[in-house]
Amino acid sequence: MRILLFGAGGMLAHDIIKVFDRDQVVLSDLKPVGDKTTFLTDITNPGEVRELMHKVRPALVINASAYTDVDGCEDDVDLAYTVNAKGPENIALACKEYRAKMVHISTDYIFDGETTIPYNETDLPSASGMYGKSKLAGEIFVAQALKERYILRTALLYGANRDNFVSKIMCRLKNKEKITVPDDMYGSPTWTVELARMIKGIYRTHKFGTYHAVNTGYCSRFEWALKIAEFSGISGDIQPIKSETLKTKAKRPLFSAMDNEKIRALVPGILSWEDGLKGFLNEQKEKK
Ligand SMILES: NC(=O)c1ccc[n+]([C@@H]2O[C@H](COP(=O)([O-])OP(=O)(O)OC[C@H]3O[C@@H](n4cnc5c(N)ncnc54)[C@H](OP(=O)(O)O)[C@@H]3O)[C@@H](O)[C@H]2O)c1
Repeated sequence: MRILLFGAGGMLAHDIIKVFDRDQVVLSDLKPVGDKTTFLTDITNPGEVRELMHKVRPALVINASAYTDVDGCEDDVDLAYTVNAKGPENIALACKEYRAKMVHISTDYIFDGETTIPYNETDLPSASGMYGKSKLAGEIFVAQALKERYILRTALLYGANRDNFVSKIMCRLKNKEKITVPDDMYGSPTWTVELARMIKGIYRTHKFGTYHAVNTGYCSRFEWALKIAEFSGISGDIQPIKSETLKTKAKRPLFSAMDNEKIRALVPGILSWEDGLKGFLNEQKEKK
């Protein structure tokens, strides 16, 4: 079975390539992925997407590509919508034409965060920033274009391939810098290896639909930073602050924890956010 992976150079894609059988996965991105054979495709160009689908004839397409710069999306709304909404629609329409199933990755930022209990799949989305709005439009386009698709909403991703919250906190701990993190922003941190396992666990179930694909549980950014220090065994000066002092361009949801019960019923063994973090830190140690 052939799998076509868009966004193959990204953080999540790095672990999808590891978790799936390498020979099954055909890579596509804007730029070559290291020294691996990569089909250079811009997902915003429907002709390029169709041409690649025609060439590869995949049974499954995974869309891990996106414009993920949350503040950048406020500055370039057109780019946000073209990549995060039109691009996924192009892929979904090509999947329909070539009879491929699709896994599309979305985000907790489609919610406004004005709640205190984890979101489930029946909660109504209402994004506050352009990144979330463009990703929500992408979900809607994919759902309208294709019946045989899994839309996996994930959150607070960290993995080996790119900078992220965990790698930045680790770096500051090692440099003995003072660390300040909000104690009023909550979410469900998710290790990219775990999300890749969820994709592998769900794509053959034929239970198409929308899922909250995160590690189990949630925490504030402050608690998350404390656990990174505890599990890595590097002590540091970590102080809580309020998110309003951050003054970021894009408004971010304050409480975007997600309930993963629906996907847990289909994919056994999903880790808690704490065990996911331990897994990632152990993997990093083993690499050295
Ligand atoms: N990171 C998070 O915390 C987080 C949280 C929730 C949901 N998500 C979602 O999870 C998915 C994976 O995220 P990630 O963090 O792994 O993303 P990432 O590291 O930013 O990777 C995205 C990839 O897509 C590529 N890309 C951008 N525009 C493209 C285009 N027009 N055509 C083809 N490829 C294009 C990027 O190339 P360039 O690098 O050259 O631009 C990059 O290689 C995304 O759907 C994201 O919205 C992420």
